[in-house]
Amino acid sequence: MRHFDAPELLRSFFRRSFWLTLCFAALLAVALPLLRHAQAIAEYKQDSLAIARKFLAKELDFDLRDMLARKNDPLIERINIFMDYSNLVEFRIWDRSARVVYSFADPLVVGKRFPDDHELLETLTTGQPSTEIDEADKLENHNLREYGTLLEMYVPVISGGRIVGAVELYRKVPPLGILNTQNLIYALGALLLPLLLHVFFYGQFKLASLKLVHSGVQLQQAYSSLVKTSLDSIRSMVNALEMRDTETQEHSEQVVAMAVLIGHQMGLSTDDMARLVIGAYLHDVGKIGVPDAILLKPGPLNAAERAIMETHVTKGRDIVEGVEFLCLGADVVHYHHERWDGTGYATGLAGENIPLTARIFALVDVFDALMSKRPYKEPFTFKQSREIIRQGSGTHFDPRVVDVFLSLSERELNDLRAEVQRKGIHDLVRQVTGAIFGTPKTNMCDLKD
Ligand SMILES: [Fe+2]
Repeated sequence: MRHFDAPELLRSFFRRSFWLTLCFAALLAVALPLLRHAQAIAEYKQDSLAIARKFLAKELDFDLRDMLARKNDPLIERINIFMDYSNLVEFRIWDRSARVVYSFADPLVVGKRFPDDHELLETLTTGQPSTEIDEADKLENHNLREYGTLLEMYVPVISGGRIVGAVELYRKVPPLGILNTQNLIYALGALLLPLLLHVFFYGQFKLASLKLVHSGVQLQQAYSSLVKTSLDSIRSMVNALEMRDTETQEHSEQVVAMAVLIGHQMGLSTDDMARLVIGAYLHDVGKIGVPDAILLKPGPLNAAERAIMETHVTKGRDIVEGVEFLCLGADVVHYHHERWDGTGYATGLAGENIPLTARIFALVDVFDALMSKRPYKEPFTFKQSREIIRQGSGTHFDPRVVDVFLSLSERELNDLRAEVQRKGIHDLVRQVTGAIFGTPKTNMCDLKD
């Protein structure tokens, strides 16, 4: 089972999410004052334009040519008042040919034309006002340079539905710097608020995670207990079977241990190892349905008796199929009497069509029978049994399985046998099946590699 270190995972999550939040907060702390600054500039332009339009709509219903003729027009008086009131430094009137008609700040430019003033030409052409904050460095603004940055506005003068000229206004710009106190407060808030929220939500997340981990541990414990109970039940079932068939006592544990040894050497997946172990345990469970007269008959079986005896594989399959945990052994139970050349029973499957777990177990089962005493025979020696297995390679047994078996020494198998007799195989089975039973699964019978 894969082990999760929940506290370390949480710490790692905190570190990553903290740096992510910090980056986000820093971006916000920079972006917010910039946005507020841009917004302040936009609002200032909008307000200035509204003030100018309001004044011009009321006062500038005039013929520009008359303006030139009347030097002391009362309008000039009102312009002066408007400029003081609105913080303007220049009020310049242009006619349609881009010639200065009136200039508050520089009377010397009156009557001159400045055809390169693009903003002016655009306003005269389209009738759209324009606003821009910039240095007053145009040719006609010689007298305004001392003010530095100013808000420059062009507002069209429309008379009788025609654009007859434009008014150009220069307004002082109040300090709209980014680093003002208000923006610094906003920046600090933008920096701290996400971090505080992060700490708060991390606390909530940690609490929920630890509860979840705790529930997971409890679930795992319950599942392990269930697995242990299931394995114990299987062992009890096998023990009951062995008590009935006294000649095969201890047979199951020996064959399970040997199957595990060969399975490991053949590189079986953890799922297949579990199938092999459960199948090895339960391989003859179907014998429960074979009458005593046949199962315990001391002499050889006749054809009819053999046919009944052979039903133990299908009966066994019916017993384990569809039952959680037991179902894992279905292949071995059903096919452990098949032969590599297809002459076995109960289905006549051949070669690699027989599941590998059943091919391994077929050899182990026969080897154990050869090495065991039966009513009709004495046990064969290791050498004799080994030779019989070797001769069955490619006919009875899978040659690959035989090769692995032949690589095992007598001492190795004797040691295994002695260890099983001494300690049983409970620990071995738990060790082999732990990988598959360690994690809860919803349907063991549909397990795929
Ligand atoms: Fe069998």
